[in-house]
Amino acid sequence: MSMDWNTGRRFPKLNVEETKGRFKDYVVLVTGGCSGIGKAAVERFASDGATVYALDIRVQAEEDFMKAFGKRVKCIQLDVTDGEKCKEVAADIASRHNIIHTLVNNAAYFGSKGITATRDDWIKSFDVNVIGYSNMTQAVVPYMKNGADCSIVNMSSISGLRAQPMRWTYSATKGGICSMTKCMALDLRENGIRVNCVSPSWAWSPEVAKAANYDREKSEETWQRFFINGRLAEVEEVAAVIVFLASRDASYITGSDIPVCGGYLAIGPEQRGENSSFAGTEY
Ligand SMILES: NC(=O)c1ccc[n+]([C@@H]2O[C@H](COP(=O)([O-])OP(=O)(O)OC[C@H]3O[C@@H](n4cnc5c(N)ncnc54)[C@H](O)[C@@H]3O)[C@@H](O)[C@H]2O)c1
Repeated sequence: MSMDWNTGRRFPKLNVEETKGRFKDYVVLVTGGCSGIGKAAVERFASDGATVYALDIRVQAEEDFMKAFGKRVKCIQLDVTDGEKCKEVAADIASRHNIIHTLVNNAAYFGSKGITATRDDWIKSFDVNVIGYSNMTQAVVPYMKNGADCSIVNMSSISGLRAQPMRWTYSATKGGICSMTKCMALDLRENGIRVNCVSPSWAWSPEVAKAANYDREKSEETWQRFFINGRLAEVEEVAAVIVFLASRDASYITGSDIPVCGGYLAIGPEQRGENSSFAGTEY
């Protein structure tokens, strides 16, 4: 992995050159596709040959997409909590291409509360993170054709799998996404649609950068001990797994959750062993 020492930005060495063309003629929709992990997924799908629609409540990446991919990437303003609008947008896209192959449900409401959570806090979290994912799935399924290699990838989180302080609302939605994914996979098998989810730990997206006061060096120092590999993820590393799950190489994977967490879920209270030693290790 190389690093830009001025910005602190790391550039993982991914197989982007080897996978070009694997999504030729595919039509892909990514919600929350104008920022962070969603934007990186849009870019990887497009780099691999797909026509991609970035659906976002805040359209903000049009120029970047146009420069890199021309008209093959389009941004559409959409709030995923508006079920009727989701149906309109999916119908409009399908009328242009006659099919939708892939949906990535990635948009998120990050607000998070614990003991002080109000009814409004709960409603906001579930409206985007769970109902929004269901809205988009209901909107695209009629245009996914059996035998055409169609799939859905939902974004969950390690927050749905491990306890974290004051995260009742956000974590409950992410746990909900994991179980909803399994139910969707079961119900949509007859349509030939695979459904999976991805659970990242911390990836350096704009949302995480904001939470870390934009101080990457300090946050890496604090957070590195949470991970076996001792570092935060780059958004491209999470996107690479989303895109793999939508590819033919993942043909036998459905109803699964793939953690992309640098070993966060594997490590125990001893962390990386800095403060523990065992009799017998020298034999
Ligand atoms: N970054 C991380 O470390 C991390 C860790 C675990 C899980 N995740 C999950 O990954 C996904 C992407 O996170 P990110 O960090 O890249 O976030 P981000 O804030 O960079 O991007 C989220 C995008 O969703 C859009 N959005 C928000 N509400 C919307 C709505 N109602 N309708 C349509 N679009 C909407 C935002 O405008 C934004 O562009 C989320 O589901 C998040 O929960 C991220």
